[in-house]
Amino acid sequence: MRRALLLSCLCLTAVVYGQKFEGLAPTPPMGWNTWNTFGCDITEALIKETADAMIANGMQAAGYNYVVIDDCWESKQRDSQGNLVADPAKFPNGMKAVGDYLHSKGFRFGIHNCAGTRTCADYPGGRGHEYQDARTYASWGVDYLKYDWCNHGTANAQETYKTMRDALYAAGRPVVFALCEWGNNKPWEWGKEIGHLWRISGDIMDCYDCQGVYSTGWKYTLAADVGLEKYAGPDHWNDPDMMEVGNAGLSLAESRAHFTLWCMVAAPLIAGNDVRKMSPEIHDILTDKEVIAIDQDPLGKQGYQFMTHPSKEIWAKELSNGEWAVCFFNTGTEPLPLRISWSHLSFLSGPYQVRDVWQKKELGRTDTGEEFKVTVPSHDVVLVKLTPIK
Ligand code: GLA
Repeated sequence: MRRALLLSCLCLTAVVYGQKFEGLAPTPPMGWNTWNTFGCDITEALIKETADAMIANGMQAAGYNYVVIDDCWESKQRDSQGNLVADPAKFPNGMKAVGDYLHSKGFRFGIHNCAGTRTCADYPGGRGHEYQDARTYASWGVDYLKYDWCNHGTANAQETYKTMRDALYAAGRPVVFALCEWGNNKPWEWGKEIGHLWRISGDIMDCYDCQGVYSTGWKYTLAADVGLEKYAGPDHWNDPDMMEVGNAGLSLAESRAHFTLWCMVAAPLIAGNDVRKMSPEIHDILTDKEVIAIDQDPLGKQGYQFMTHPSKEIWAKELSNGEWAVCFFNTGTEPLPLRISWSHLSFLSGPYQVRDVWQKKELGRTDTGEEFKVTVPSHDVVLVKLTPIK
């Protein structure tokens, strides 16, 4: 009897603790995050206006359903009971009110904190308060937690993120857990059991190929994803960081290429521009259903770099139903005239129908013996989808 009791206690412990919420991210999460454009300059009004804009401009309908409030939403100190509190000037009605608003509009509510003692912008971090904070998030209706890695001291990354995973699970409200550990401890090797996505690099910057100390242009955060494709799949995604699409440091071509390549590597599509006032061209990039479908393909395979030359890269992504997406990326500064012999793409088998996904144009078949000729502008892409001909 005592043994049976002990066993059932152990089983219960295993159920209550020690797992992530399964099935929350069968395809890469999509949404919007405050950080890339607004940094610490965030308010309840901004969140509401953004959510309203995402409904009006079709982003929500295109699949962007998480609205994530990044660093700087908190007061500088916890309250006398150790609870996290919202900054009363920025969020005068508290965070539950923000969550209620988002939920009433059909969105899911995301929030940021940090596994260290303080966040990167020096607000209270979660260390030592994991279970208490997880209950707070549950009471606010939080659906997505981005968990950062500043001020972690000597903490072990895997153990620290595991603690928060268990705390979220114990609090009982399903939460997508986004590990933001910057790839320091190879989270692709252990993150699958802990979270639904993990950053693989330092921060993205609003530029194509610039380099700072902790942040770089998207070309380099993408480069960090090369070779990591085998670690990604439904419910566990590599995250080359939130998008800079539409921000001032990128040309239109660079925004289009950035978006396309994020879709090719099955990246979480978290927009980081001011979606209340984007140009029609950027709107059309972010909401292109055919390109998004490549990211969100249910097979859940991350695309890979098939070939790289000094100014040319070819990326391939296997899709369901035997289809493939192929992206020709001009990394150089001059227009790139391409002549592609389909037979050189060794991952293909049999004849395919070819469609130019951005141009919305059928390009014919792969088995005509003719080369595919196209000129790719500098820092731009040509994206084709290949559908097998039965
Ligand atoms: C880190 C993260 C960023 C952002 C900032 C906020 O740098 O990597 O994405 O959350 O913190 O301070």
